[in-house]
Amino acid sequence: MLGIYFSATGNTKYCVERLVNKLDKKSKSLAMKDPETLTAVQHADGFIFGYGVKFSNVPKIVHDWILANKFIFNGKKILIIATMGAFSGDGSGCAARLFQKCGAQIVGGLHLRMPDVVADSKMLKKPLAFNKELVIKAGNKIDNAAYDILNGKYPKEGLNIFYHIAGLLGQRLWFYSKTSRYSNRLKVDSKKCILCGLCVKNCPMDNLYITENKLVIKGQCTECYRCINCCPKQALTSLGKKVVEQCSVEKYL
Ligand SMILES: Cc1cc2nc3c(=O)[nH]c(=O)nc-3n(C[C@H](O)[C@H](O)[C@H](O)COP(=O)(O)O)c2cc1C
Repeated sequence: MLGIYFSATGNTKYCVERLVNKLDKKSKSLAMKDPETLTAVQHADGFIFGYGVKFSNVPKIVHDWILANKFIFNGKKILIIATMGAFSGDGSGCAARLFQKCGAQIVGGLHLRMPDVVADSKMLKKPLAFNKELVIKAGNKIDNAAYDILNGKYPKEGLNIFYHIAGLLGQRLWFYSKTSRYSNRLKVDSKKCILCGLCVKNCPMDNLYITENKLVIKGQCTECYRCINCCPKQALTSLGKKVVEQCSVEKYL
């Protein structure tokens, strides 16, 4: 069993690894952009694919990765994991439809509520105990799903027309533009930035670089929030104006 994930703060990585290990102890999980991933997909009959939902949609980087590699998914059996802070409607269905266009067979969908990674929104932040409880519940749900899958019963969350309508009406109709192109909202507070380069190293889009003693942001952001969550000086923001609380899955385990 192969697991593939796109994960900003580790939520999705944790979920994919847990499910894959429960299904097969000898299995491995790889990051979507790992140099080994495409070859591993080519050699597998199928795989588990996970990502954190963005505005009830697939993050732009995931959308583009699927379409850029469309020829290798033909005939593959895929189970999709969508992690989310609260609600996505058809979180897994969004990637399912893309993979189906590439000739893949979708065998299941699993929705997992995890801590919300939008670090610069007070409204979305929850107490530590609440987030820890979310991760425990997600873990239990994964273990139950693994048991069912091993008995031939795949979860189908996010995949039917009712989920699709919920995703559209819940958010996607109003926020579609936020995932249909890369964003230029990422900002740096140059008074706080110490030019440590951690954001540059961690950005999956190569959206940041340092030159002449300043951090430059190119405007090709997939809004994964990895840089915002790992900045030691809380100097980066996107949707909000100030970092309220940074996330990483390790905090909640
Ligand atoms: C820009 C942005 C948009 C998001 N949109 C949604 C959403 O529509 N619904 C939801 O439930 N969670 C949403 N989330 C929360 C993430 O999906 C959730 O925290 C996820 O587990 C992050 O996983 P990761 O750390 O593996 O990337 C959003 C997060 C970000 C950064």
